[in-house]
Order: sequence, then structure tokens, then C-alpha cells
Amino acid sequence: MEVVIAPTESIGEIVADDVATLLEAKPHAVIGLATGSSPLRAYDSLADRVERGELSFAEARAFTLDEYVGLPAGHPCSYRSVIHREFVARVDFADGAVTTPDGNAADLDAEAESFDWRIAAAGGVDLQILGIGTHGHIAFNEPGSSLASDTRVKMLTEQTRRDNARFFSDGMDAVPQLCLTQGIATIMRARHILLVATGEGKADAVRALVEGGVSAFRPASILQHHPRVTVVVDPQAASRLVYAEYYSNASERRPSYQT
Ligand code: GLP
Repeated sequence: MEVVIAPTESIGEIVADDVATLLEAKPHAVIGLATGSSPLRAYDSLADRVERGELSFAEARAFTLDEYVGLPAGHPCSYRSVIHREFVARVDFADGAVTTPDGNAADLDAEAESFDWRIAAAGGVDLQILGIGTHGHIAFNEPGSSLASDTRVKMLTEQTRRDNARFFSDGMDAVPQLCLTQGIATIMRARHILLVATGEGKADAVRALVEGGVSAFRPASILQHHPRVTVVVDPQAASRLVYAEYYSNASERRPSYQT
């Protein structure tokens, strides 16, 4: 695991640099996209690079992580709408290149199963962008999630619904109780995972992810078992890391990625 501690304003560029490096080497790469506020600066930077003609997603494909169950199609808070608005519509993916789970599928279990097959058929995810919930979830894998889970239907915790209520004009009651989420095993199959967290509110979750024991209680901690994870955090999100100074020194001086 590599921990990069950087000023909040530069985090978007750091993530965008990794995406750009991948696309230069592999224009047809498969990118895993996350919703939430954490990757927004990276999406802004990537959209700017595409607009300037420095980068293209024309041959790339993408899969999103999760979706609410039961929001009407086109609802502004559905993750399909959010990722389209915040990122996909601003870059140059080919039509049909971005796949999102369908939270209105008649058979949600079949949709979940086929989602993992579609990722596999695309060759697997090369670079997965992730955020982290305040209690340590990744995608919508809530505490207690099987660390071996595939994409499936999951019930959201009160805490997640409260955290996400800020996006819904009608408040917490409008936040669905169920979601479809990539499983932890699904996420772990990505070749490189880049997790972004900013702000004091994420400090406990980041501590558990990097320095805690691996536990379904803090699902992100499973990333300690992945061979290539980069955790990009600002000083506030890193504020409870015991080895923060060591991580900073190591990432500044590293010859290349260090596990
Ligand atoms: C949601 C998403 C997660 C995201 C998390 C953090 O619950 N399902 O994928 O990582 O929130 O969101 P934010 O980045 O807005 O703090």
C-alpha cells in the first residue's frame, strides 16, 4: 500500500496523472469510476485535459461502482445521472462505453451477477478510483459485508443514508434503503486501486484502512491484501495516521511504486 499525503488542492491532479499515465500506455484501458464528492477534483482535471486535447477516453471503457435501488430513471441523485453529469458528459467516451448497474432491473440478483460478468468480459478493471465512507465502506459495502462478496443487493446503514442525504433535496427520507454495489471481491480484482479521501471527517476511516486490523467491520481495510493500492489523502484525512511522517517521506523519495 502506498500512502500519498498531499494538499487538498493537488489531490485531483495526482489522481488525474495516474489515469493519464494509464491511458497513454493503454488507450483501451478499463477505468472504474466512483461517485461521491472525493473524486470530483480529479474529474475536473481530467475533463480539462480532454478539452485541451491532451487526453482521450475515446477507446477506453468504464464501470461504475454502485447504484441506488428504485430511484426513477433520470433521477438527479441516481449514480447513473451523477456520473454522467460530473464526468462522462464532459469527456469523450464512445457511446455505450460506460456501464452502470441498473437499480431498476426487474431481477436485481441477475443484474448483479451479469454486472461482474460484463466487467470480466471487458478484460477487468485496470484502475479503480475509490472513495471511502465515514465508517469505512468502499462502494456501498457496509460494515459486516463479506470480504469475499461479489456484486449484489445491499441494505444501506443509517449512517450512509445520513451522509448522503445532503445530495437529496427532500432529505434523508428520500434516500433509498437498498442499493446494488460491486462486491469487495469484485473491487479487489482491479489491477490498481486508487482511493481518495479528504477532510477530517474521513480521518478515522483512513486510520482503520491503513493501520487497523483487516475486518469486515471496516470493509476498506481489505485493501491491505491488494498488491497495488494507492491511498491519496490530504493532511486532514491523514491526521490520525501514526506513521504519517514516514508515508510522506517514503512517497516523496520513492524510486517507483512501493507496496
Ligand atoms: C457513497 C458512495 C461511495 C463513496 C462514499 C464517499 O456512499 N457509495 O462510493 O466513496 O459515498 O463519498 P464522498 O466522497 O462524497 O465522501
